[in-house]
Amino acid sequence: MLDRIKRSFIKKGLEDRHSQRLLRSMKGIKPLSGVEIEVDGQRMLNFSSNDYLGLSNNPLLRDRAMEFILRYGSGSTASRLVCGNFECFEHVEKKIAELSGRQSALIFNSGFQANASLLPSLADRDTAILSDRLNHNSLIQGCLLSRCHVEPFKHNDMGHLEELLKKIRKNGKEKRILIVTEAVFSMDGDQSDIDTIIGLSRKYDAFLFVDEAHSTGLFGRNGMGLTSWKDVDITMGTLGKAAGSFGAYVACDTEVRDYLINFCYGLIYTTALPPSVLGAIDAAMDLIPGMDKEREELLNKADHLRKALSGLGFNTSTSTTHIIPIVIGDEEKTMALSRWLEINGILAVTFRYPSVARGDSRIRLTLSAAHTWEQIEMLIDLLRSWNNEFTKQDLHHRH
Ligand SMILES: Cc1ncc(COP(=O)(O)O)c(C=O)c1O
Repeated sequence: MLDRIKRSFIKKGLEDRHSQRLLRSMKGIKPLSGVEIEVDGQRMLNFSSNDYLGLSNNPLLRDRAMEFILRYGSGSTASRLVCGNFECFEHVEKKIAELSGRQSALIFNSGFQANASLLPSLADRDTAILSDRLNHNSLIQGCLLSRCHVEPFKHNDMGHLEELLKKIRKNGKEKRILIVTEAVFSMDGDQSDIDTIIGLSRKYDAFLFVDEAHSTGLFGRNGMGLTSWKDVDITMGTLGKAAGSFGAYVACDTEVRDYLINFCYGLIYTTALPPSVLGAIDAAMDLIPGMDKEREELLNKADHLRKALSGLGFNTSTSTTHIIPIVIGDEEKTMALSRWLEINGILAVTFRYPSVARGDSRIRLTLSAAHTWEQIEMLIDLLRSWNNEFTKQDLHHRH
C-alpha cells in the first residue's frame, strides 16, 4: 500500500514522458579520434559535442593532468576552505584572471553548480533579477533558488531590458538589480549585445552577470569570451566545453571574489575539484590564447555550413556562431531527421521540450575546430538528400 503511494509519481512521470514520446535515455559512447566516436557500437561523426577546439584529447592537457595527479594525488581531500585549496588552484586562477583582464578568478566544480549557487548568493528577497528569456536551465535554477522577483526580458531585446530597468529604478531607488544573460546562447547560437548590456548596467547601477559557457575559448581577447577585458561584475565561464576539461570559473574583482568565498554555498560546501582536472585546465589556459587560427577557421566553417543550410531551406534561427540549430518545430520530424543522420553515420542530437519551448524542436549542430571541411561537406550532402526525399514525400502526400 505505502509502496504504491511513495513511488507512484516516478511511474507516472516516466509514463507521461513515454506517452508524449519525450522519454530520454543515455547512449553508450566511446571516443575514438578527433570528432569520431562510437555510439552503442556504431562508428559516427560527432556534430553534437561541446569540444569546440578539439582540446579534450590534446596531449598537453592529458600530460599535465597526469603530472598534477603525480604531484598532488587523485583527490583534493576537502573543500577549498577546509584543506582542499592546493596551490594549483590559485596558480590556475591567476592565469585565468590575467588572460581575462580581471583582478581575480575563482574555480567552481561545474557551470551548473556555479550558476545555481552564485545567483542566490548575490540576491536577497528584495532583489530584482532581470534574466534573458532564453537563459540556460542552470541560470533558471539559480533564479528560482534566489527566491526573489525574477522578470524575464525578451530574448536579446535591449529596449525591453531598459524599459524594465527604468521601471524598477523609478520605484526603488535603492533596489538591488541583477542582470543575467548568456554571451552565446546555447540553443540558438546567437550572441548577446554585451557592450549595450554593460552600458545599461552602468546607467541603472545594476549588477551584471554573464554566462560565457559557449564562448570561453572562442571569442574575445585571448579567447576568454565576449566579456574578456570588459567591465562586467561577474563572468562565469565553463571549462568542460572549449577548454576540453571540466569545471567552471568566475572572473571578477578581488572584492567580489572575497564575497563569494564567504557567501557562495556552491563553493563553500563542496569538495574541491581533483588535481588532474586542474592540470588539464592549466594546460588549456596555456593553449587557448594562441588558438586564433583555429577560432577563425571554426567560424568560417560555421558560416559556410549556415549558408548551405539556409540555401537548402533549413531554418537556422538567429545563429551567428559555431552552434547552429536546424529548427524543425515538429517533434516527430525532428526525430526522423536525427535518426536518418544517425543511420548515415552522423550524430546530431535533437533538443525537444523541455529543453526548448514546445513546437520549437530542433537538431543542434555544434562545430569543432577538429571537423574537416570534407566532414562538413558530407553533412551538407546528407541534409540535401534528406531534404529532397522529404520534399518529394511531402508533395506526394499533398497530391
Ligand atoms: C549556458 C550554459 N551555462 C551553464 C552550463 C552548465 O555548465 P557545466 O556543463 O559546466 O555544468 C551549460 C551547459 O552545460 C550551458 O549551456
